Amino acid sequence: MSKIKIASLSDLPPGKMKEYRIAGKVIALANCEGEIKAFDGFCTHEKCSLAGGFLDGFTLTCYCHGASFDISTGEVLAPPATSPLKTYPVTLVGQDIMIELD
Ligand code: FES
Repeated sequence: MSKIKIASLSDLPPGKMKEYRIAGKVIALANCEGEIKAFDGFCTHEKCSLAGGFLDGFTLTCYCHGASFDISTGEVLAPPATSPLKTYPVTLVGQDIMIELD
């Protein structure tokens, strides 16, 4: 497993999500009241971009058909998605947001 810098804290104010392309993957980051979460950038239902969805605490709702996920665990909270979302460990090194890719 390798840690990669994906962004800086200043790029991601509280309540915001952004999508990044890194190491051949599309990863989304969310700032949930100061806690940074990282997860696959595409919904497990029909692959809509999750960074364009709606964030309420740690609950992310996909804008396409309304599936929702707990972005701390990847658990599906509401259909039509049935498969969990892949999440990635995040560490902060100063202002650098680092994620672990497998
Ligand atoms: S693509 Fe996200 S709910 Fe359908």
